[in-house]
Formats: sequence, structure tokens, C-alpha cells
Amino acid sequence: MKHLISIADLAPEELDELLKLMEKLKEERYSGRVTDYLKNKSLAMIFELPSTRTRISFEVAMTDLGGHALYLGWNDLQLGRGEPIKDTARVLSRYVHAVMMRVRDHSTIEEFAKYSTVPVINGLSNLEHPCQILADLLTIKEYKGDLSNVTLAWIGDGNNVCNSIILSSALTGMKVIVSTPKGYEPNEKIVKKALEMGAKVVFESDPTKAVVEADVIYTDVWTSMGQEEEREKRLKDFKLYQVKQKLVDKAKDDVVVMHCLPAHRGEEITDEVIEGKHSIVFDQAENRLHAQKAILLKLIGGIAEEDKE
Ligand code: CP
Ligand code: NVA
Repeated sequence: MKHLISIADLAPEELDELLKLMEKLKEERYSGRVTDYLKNKSLAMIFELPSTRTRISFEVAMTDLGGHALYLGWNDLQLGRGEPIKDTARVLSRYVHAVMMRVRDHSTIEEFAKYSTVPVINGLSNLEHPCQILADLLTIKEYKGDLSNVTLAWIGDGNNVCNSIILSSALTGMKVIVSTPKGYEPNEKIVKKALEMGAKVVFESDPTKAVVEADVIYTDVWTSMGQEEEREKRLKDFKLYQVKQKLVDKAKDDVVVMHCLPAHRGEEITDEVIEGKHSIVFDQAENRLHAQKAILLKLIGGIAEEDKE
């Protein structure tokens, strides 16, 4: 793995290895063990869109591992004044050990990676959110064990997070039931690629049917960043896809409810559900930190052989 632009950049064995590394790093943080695997390493973090979890978890991950992260708002860079992506990529490659980017358009990160000589990490694009899904898989594993026995019902928009979840099915064997309104299905090319890779993905437009056999119910905002002008239409189109108590009650008794956050209570999820006993959203958010550390170690290295166990 050179870059992490799509979750499908990982082979199943690499994903297993990353999950184990996340577990180890999580234990280390809990035990208070201080490590400096990334001493003298720098991460540039370019944000074209806002972030709470991704920004802070990457920054804290670098600090915890003895390295340094630079927050770079798009408009604070010459990028905002039109400096080409390909020039920025080559310049940053001379300074830092990896670049994490959150971009509006997936092609921006692909272009950057083409010219970057250091690893590039997708911190969310309109097409995918691989770092989120790595934290999600750790969370699901913690609650449900073997991922190949898990059924996840995706309720709502077939967006960037949904696309990455679908691709992850090909790496884990997790079954994904996608329930979206007509016209809001996940990206066709991604679904095709996932199916070719062996993903177990099925479509069920009725959310009440989609959740019946689910171990995990996962939802995300109806209006993603960059789609703000569609908000009013989306509010109407997604009305039947709200994750509310009545829907959760149709699933297994031990179903867990996930949301990558930020959530819009009263839209895609009710306050009752997100605050309720099935919700694991804050464990999921915490795991972003452990996942980012594993991603960074895998891409820019530094973990000593004796520490690998
Ligand atoms: N889930 C997630 O990526 O959150 P942020 O937008 O706050 O980074
Ligand atoms: N689908 C959401 C995810 C936010 C973390 C968005 O793109 O805005």
C-alpha cells in the first residue's frame, strides 16, 4: 500500500494487519505507554472542507506517536490562489512524510497522488471515506466479532461513506444491505467494482425490511458537504429513511446503531436513537484515533520489530 485513497487500495491481509495494529495501539493508549514511532515525521493535512473528527484524530495521532501534524486550510495555501495541485504535491513531498487531504472532488486527490512522492491519505472526498471505514470495522469487530458473520444495513443516502462500506465488504465478507430512496443509490462504478471483488451487497429499498436481519444499522447525513443547495429536496426525498426507534425495534435485539458523525438529529436519525442503548457512535468516533495511528504507521513506518507483537 503506497497511498490510502480508496478502501480498496488494501488487500484483505493488509486490512487484517491494520485491524490488529489498531487494537494494539488502542491498548497502548489505554495503558499509558508512550511510543515515538513517528519521531521527526511530519504530516501535512490539507482541508478543502471542514472537519472535527478527522482533523483532531490525525493531529493527536501524530502527537501521540512523537511526530508533528500541520493543519493547512485550502485557502491558506497558494492552492486557494490557483497554484496547481501537481506543483503543490511535488513541493510538499520535499517537506513532509505524508499528506492527508479532505477534498470536494475525488479527482483532486487522485491528481495530487499522481505527483506526490510521499503517501497520500484520503480524509474524505465526494466518493469515499476510507479512514472512517477502518475505524468502523474495528468498532464492528469489537461489538460483533468475526466481520464475515456480520450483516450491516445501510439506511439513507448512498454517499461517500456508503461507497467505502460497500467496498469493505469485498475485503471482510461482511454482508451489506443498502436501503436508499430511488435516485440516491451508491456510485454505480463502485458497486460494480465491489461485486467484481466479491462483495456481498444487496439492495432493499424498504428500510423496514432492510433492518430485519441486521447486526448493524448504519446511517449518515442526508445532505453531505458540498450538497447544501439540495437540502430542501433531500429532506423530502429521505423522509421514510429516518433511523428512528420504530425502525430499530424491527431489527435484532442486540443490533448496534452507527453514524460516522456529525449527525443531524431529527433528520437521518432521532435524538432518541442516537442517545439510546443501541447507539455506539462515540466508540466509533474514538476509534478514528486508533485507526489513524495504524494508517500512519503502515504508510510512513517507524514501528520497531520488537514492538510489533
Ligand atoms: N466522520 C468524520 O469524518 O467527521 P469529521 O467531518 O468531523 O472529520
Ligand atoms: N457524508 C458526509 C460524511 C461526513 C463525515 C459528508 O460527506 O459530508
